[in-house]
Amino acid sequence: MNYEEIMKLALERGFYFQSCEIYPDAPAGFWEYGPTGVSFKNKFVELWRREMIRRDGMLELDGSQIMSKSVFEASGHLSSFADPITKCKKCNSVYRADKLISEAANVIVPESAPLEDFDRAIEEHSIVCPKDKGQLEKVKKFNMMFRVGIGPLDEPAYLRPETCQSLFVDFPRVFKVMRGKLPVGFAQYGKSFRNEISPRQSLIRMREFYQAEIEVFCNPSKLNELERFKEIEQTRINVMLGDDEQPKWMTCKEAVESGAIPNKLVAYYLGLLVEFYEKTGIDVKRHRFRKLGAKEKAFYASVAFDFEVETSLGWLELVACNYRSDYDLTSHAKLSKANFEVMDGEEKVLPHVFELSMGVDRSLYTILDHSLRDDKPNERVVLSVKPYLAPVQVGVLPLMKKDGLYEKADEIFATLKRRYDAFFDVSGAIGRRYRRLDEVGAPFAITIDYQTLQDGTVTLRERDEMKQERIKISDIESRISKLLAYP
Ligand code: ATP
Ligand code: GLY
Repeated sequence: MNYEEIMKLALERGFYFQSCEIYPDAPAGFWEYGPTGVSFKNKFVELWRREMIRRDGMLELDGSQIMSKSVFEASGHLSSFADPITKCKKCNSVYRADKLISEAANVIVPESAPLEDFDRAIEEHSIVCPKDKGQLEKVKKFNMMFRVGIGPLDEPAYLRPETCQSLFVDFPRVFKVMRGKLPVGFAQYGKSFRNEISPRQSLIRMREFYQAEIEVFCNPSKLNELERFKEIEQTRINVMLGDDEQPKWMTCKEAVESGAIPNKLVAYYLGLLVEFYEKTGIDVKRHRFRKLGAKEKAFYASVAFDFEVETSLGWLELVACNYRSDYDLTSHAKLSKANFEVMDGEEKVLPHVFELSMGVDRSLYTILDHSLRDDKPNERVVLSVKPYLAPVQVGVLPLMKKDGLYEKADEIFATLKRRYDAFFDVSGAIGRRYRRLDEVGAPFAITIDYQTLQDGTVTLRERDEMKQERIKISDIESRISKLLAYP
């Protein structure tokens, strides 16, 4: 489905909508999840916990969103977390230079290229302001962190631009008290904040967004000694080693043996990621791990692969997979004087870090993109999400409001609603109610009709094939549990 249709669904069915929408000064790039969206997001995060965190025995933290200036001095964000921007001399519109150049002239100037490269491209391709054709100012850097003032003295601090900094800062304590053993993943799900220059396309580029990040702390001399690599060695991934190269499908084992992926530890987590996304219902045949060139990588990464998925908007980066080496722990150790070294058996090491930085909002968008379908013959739009991700798990529908059907349905609803995301709907024709449930991905509905009053059975209607069968009221719960089970 295309962007407009997804947006329509999001607005009309309570997935997401613009923040502060009733006011004219609502800033761009801020979005709210409605009840359907919250339920969907929670289930996605639960799947992430199940398939990544618990599967791999990681440690989950929940850190502060506002962090001290020192954190970002050490992390390098104060000096380096900046985008190249240019301004129209006529109308003052501001643009991200790399995006403007690629859109106007189809030329790639990597975001971390020297500023002169942008000026040169703008001049060579005679790029002007898309709004009024005004000349553009020289390109400069714009730091994307939101500064906040703490207390009456307005002490400077920042909203975190990535969730992972607390995982680094908290590493010594948590590793110690949780009796950590390398390699160990630390994980965090929560909000990140970036003062994006051109927020757009709803969940794709926001100024406040959710990340689910994993930082794997490891011994750099043992990157090929990972026992559990066996679990994913036959998992197939699609690796693209350069922008001019075709992506190639290979098993994780082949990826390591051919040198496409630098070591078993990295390959293991890339494999795990693909297995996770397969369970979200995203069509992983349309993924690629794109290796970033030197100028495209983030300033802290020594090797980086972007996990990208093809959507109706084109290729979309969902996860940044960065080998951050000892960049973060060394910098925090230097500035804070805390000790980040730990014992790995008899060896004292300063761990290296491999990161999987997942965008939750973009992932949810991609699931919608791959799951929403227009079932024209049946005049309905269906969100065919995996049952365990469905925002509404079961609809409870009395055929009529009268003759005791409402009361019977309400009784069944009361037994279900504390265990499942159940939705009671009595308004409108039954066909319309089924269609509303199809749009929010409810995998099945239970209809209470006159026969229910006679023999204690209900109709169970399945979403994708629209099959109906009669089951006993006493069997409803066991059937729901079975249908919602994880694979
Ligand atoms: P892009 O190249 O699209 O700007 P990025 O390289 O800046 O993304 P990272 O800094 O690597 O993104 O962030 C890790 C992940 O966080 C991304 O893969 C993406 O899924 C998510 N993310 C980053 N910025 C945003 C944003 N502004 N809105 C929504 N999600 C984002
Ligand atoms: N933690 C990496 C990122 O947000 O890009």
